[in-house]
Amino acid sequence: MPLPVILDCDPGTDDAFAILLALASPELDVLAITVAGGNVGLEHTLRNARALTALAGSNVPVYAGADRPLLGAFVSETGVHGEDGLGGIILPDGKPPAPGLAADVVRRMLRDSAEPVTLIGIGPATNLALALTTEPALTKHVAQIVLMSGAWAEGNATPAAEFNAWSDPEALAILLACGRPVVFATLELTAQALVTPALIAAWRALGAGRCLQAACDIQSAVPPSRRLGGAGAPLHDPCAIAWLIQPGLFTTRTCSARVDLGPGPGRGRTLIDRWNRTGDALNAMVLETLDAPGFFDLLGHRLALLP
Ligand code: BDR
Ligand code: CA
Repeated sequence: MPLPVILDCDPGTDDAFAILLALASPELDVLAITVAGGNVGLEHTLRNARALTALAGSNVPVYAGADRPLLGAFVSETGVHGEDGLGGIILPDGKPPAPGLAADVVRRMLRDSAEPVTLIGIGPATNLALALTTEPALTKHVAQIVLMSGAWAEGNATPAAEFNAWSDPEALAILLACGRPVVFATLELTAQALVTPALIAAWRALGAGRCLQAACDIQSAVPPSRRLGGAGAPLHDPCAIAWLIQPGLFTTRTCSARVDLGPGPGRGRTLIDRWNRTGDALNAMVLETLDAPGFFDLLGHRLALLP
């Protein structure tokens, strides 16, 4: 039976791969795609999510959510994702957003689902946190929360913090305190998913479908990562999806995690206690290593199944 999931995102070049991978994978039953402002403003992320869903020929409903974090100001990441969030690659417009607001929809789907639902978060955690904090009893309908978020060492948005965690640390703290297991694809994991121009060329040769080719166009527009040596750019978000489809590609560690909510330079830093030094309750699982060739193979071949 496919795993029921809700995919909360902020597309975003790497979110685009995550959305397409999820929609191409029979292991997942994507109940909804919910969207927040993040990499770029909500007006762009929502349009991108709708366009990508239509490109995949999918009828999964796309819902608008939060355009800013729970506290503090909204800050985008146009340096990586471009002004429009997809590196300037223009896709045909998709269907209008489905009626309803992301947090309300997540609550309704949790309430109505016959089995617990997996929440996937690959952007700022605002929508998921709003859903769970406004009706905590529904948390028991959550199977697990799988996030691309955080880092156990240095950040990418600030020296201390990873972008999604930094964009809404209070929302992440709500998820970490909700009592359900939280799985982290951190920056250390996604650094292993470094996409080079040669890999993009190999993907392009896997098929002529519009989704695969658009994904390659999008990734080609992402500047190489200075943080990771300049050979390519990491594909963060599809790691979270791949974990649910093919967990054998990963090694993991159960640990405790919390997030720095202070106003200073450490704000948004995730304190991931991989060696259990704090003795805090084990509320998280970190994905530590990735079989990168296996991951890239999965990604390319699944996207090649799409139109
Ligand atoms: C995360 O932040 C965003 O820029 C990406 O889409 C990814 O979700 C990586 O830090
Ligand atoms: Ca993202």
